[in-house]
Amino acid sequence: MSATPALQLQDLGYRIGGTEILRHLDLTIACGERVALIGPNGAGKTTLFNLISGRQRPTSGAILMNGQPIVGCTPSALYQRGLARSFQITHLFPSLTVLDNMRCALMRSFNVGLCFWRALSHHAALHHKAQLLLSQLQLTHHQDTVVKHLSYADQRTLELGLALAADSTLLLLDEPTAGMSHSESRHVVKLIRRMTEGKTLLLVEHDMGVVFDLADRIIVLVDGRLVANGTPEAIRSNPIVRAAYLGSDQTEGP
Ligand SMILES: Nc1ncnc2c1ncn2[C@@H]1O[C@H](COP(=O)(O)OP(=O)(O)O)[C@@H](O)[C@H]1O
Ligand SMILES: [Mg+2]
Repeated sequence: MSATPALQLQDLGYRIGGTEILRHLDLTIACGERVALIGPNGAGKTTLFNLISGRQRPTSGAILMNGQPIVGCTPSALYQRGLARSFQITHLFPSLTVLDNMRCALMRSFNVGLCFWRALSHHAALHHKAQLLLSQLQLTHHQDTVVKHLSYADQRTLELGLALAADSTLLLLDEPTAGMSHSESRHVVKLIRRMTEGKTLLLVEHDMGVVFDLADRIIVLVDGRLVANGTPEAIRSNPIVRAAYLGSDQTEGP
């Protein structure tokens, strides 16, 4: 495990006009750590992911990945450096097959341009890697299925696989089990655990069962501020967290 943290946020802030969305965030995530980010709706979780993944630029503070400042890098430059993100809403090509979606994601890591599209099936290493990933995702039987005909859970599973396609070392997963049944969610949690072995994970998740199952550490964001940071046991009994949203009705979620 490298001593240099995988991710550091230093006094990070984001405001839109006069409204502060994120305030003075400081956070260090070690390589290989699995951290869950929880907090009520509107707390700023997705905004924070947008800042880390280069989709929005912070208005103050710094973000470091493997010790290097990354503010100002584009999402695709960060993807090349090993940072991948899955979205709260699926971002797939709905009219392409499962296999072709996977090949498209791999093209970036294999540096294959779109003009080589026709030759893709002949690109043996890329094809092999696509099939290997689909088999790890247990989606091989769907490789020729057009994505819009997949079940929602399978689409989310494929999207998780696309985030892993570049052999990324730092993964940001935004509600990977949202909208799934209990059994689908358990299946996807197992896949996440297996396929992200040794990688650094920052995960937004509303299902507290999933959070307590997957995370080594939990951080809590309320109204743009980090209000708690600790082990699942510490967070579970933290009075600020309980007051902020575990509250009296724990079935409601963050
Ligand atoms: N483009 C935007 N313009 C104005 N307000 C925004 C914009 N994006 C997000 N917000 C506000 O920022 C806050 C945090 O939103 P978000 O990051 O989506 O929270 P979460 O993911 O925790 O639910 C919310 O109050 C939201 O209304
Ligand atoms: Mg969100």
